[in-house]
Amino acid sequence: MTKSISSARADFPILNQLVNDHPLVYLDNAATAQKPRSVIDSLVHYYEFDNANIHRGNHTLAIRATEAHEAARSTIAGFINAQYAHEIVFTRGTTESINLVAYSFGEAFVKAGDEIIVTELEHHSNYVPWFLLCKRKGATFRVVPFDQDGELDLEVFKSMLSEKTRLVAVNHVSNSLGTVNPISEIIQLAHQAGVPVLVDAAQSVQHLDHDVQALDADFYAFSGHKIYGPTGVGVLYGKEKWLEEMPPFLSGGEMIENVTCDKVTFNTLPFKFEAGTPDVSGPIGLAAAIDYLIQFDPAELKDYETDLLNYGLELLSDIPDLTIYGNPKHRSSILPFNVAGIQHYDMGVLLDNYGIAVRTGQHCTQPVMDALGITGTVRASLALYNTREDIDALVNGIKRVQRLFRRKS
Ligand code: ALA
Repeated sequence: MTKSISSARADFPILNQLVNDHPLVYLDNAATAQKPRSVIDSLVHYYEFDNANIHRGNHTLAIRATEAHEAARSTIAGFINAQYAHEIVFTRGTTESINLVAYSFGEAFVKAGDEIIVTELEHHSNYVPWFLLCKRKGATFRVVPFDQDGELDLEVFKSMLSEKTRLVAVNHVSNSLGTVNPISEIIQLAHQAGVPVLVDAAQSVQHLDHDVQALDADFYAFSGHKIYGPTGVGVLYGKEKWLEEMPPFLSGGEMIENVTCDKVTFNTLPFKFEAGTPDVSGPIGLAAAIDYLIQFDPAELKDYETDLLNYGLELLSDIPDLTIYGNPKHRSSILPFNVAGIQHYDMGVLLDNYGIAVRTGQHCTQPVMDALGITGTVRASLALYNTREDIDALVNGIKRVQRLFRRKS
């Protein structure tokens, strides 16, 4: 028996409040999603009953905490269909997951004259680590452009793939335009050229298919907080064969097997990549978020979110002087726009006066904004608890701000 999507909103206590004397309309989900009661309860339960350091102690709480942490790893492995739980490395978030690969894979496999391919649609977190790796190693940083619709140019991508390419790093969904990139096709093309692919799934894992074996992703990175889990925990999935061959990223306790004054050997996967006391509760909260999410029928959820997005696009496109950015064939959860004569920052502040939370600015994607020739956008982004009423409130809010500006001018 699957859970009804219409019941979801009541599971998120934070949504039930007034902000600036208006009911909260939370449309900043691409920045971070709200947490259902079950996730909050899992964290409170952990700290009330089980808190201890893990993999180190032999007392009851240490064993309980370790078991809960490792059970979370298995839940996450199952959710993304990893072949082995030890292919799941816990990090602080997508940014750290990508930095881990850029550093460790870069150390092992990238040398002067090699090439790394990213795209112009990337968040800085899937752009800057590769840029810096290329600078460190004397490798070439190559960027696949996007077109007016916000679609990647796959012909350019194909032409860039060569025997010099060491890795392709690409997002599944663009955080600033919402473009759903043809990730399976990109992975297939890269693999035909013998090149591994890192998928930045920060904006897709909560909305779209996330089967890493079906995608054949070599690396897959996402954050807990955008999939209804806690902040401070992220996931790096890596195929066993790559993780085995990569050197550690951070070093210290727990990532070692044996330490003497002339030799250090490393722990097995995934612990080789988890130095120091980890965020013990984060994965437990993330597993609770996944347990929450999998109560819904995935197809129904996708249809619901698509319908909501299309409703938003339709209503926004009827507002005079409003520009929606990008027109990709497939878009997920993101409504990026500007209104003529009103700075995106001002629009964000004024919408907040009506209790409407959106993000404004560059969204950590300066290359996207530069390509569009703008300084930033207003971005409304959707989650499973949003409703048509939220979209109506956004549209009414924008119209009120427009009237305010007309009166002033
Ligand atoms: N990367 C997050 C966003 O797109 C914070 O807003």
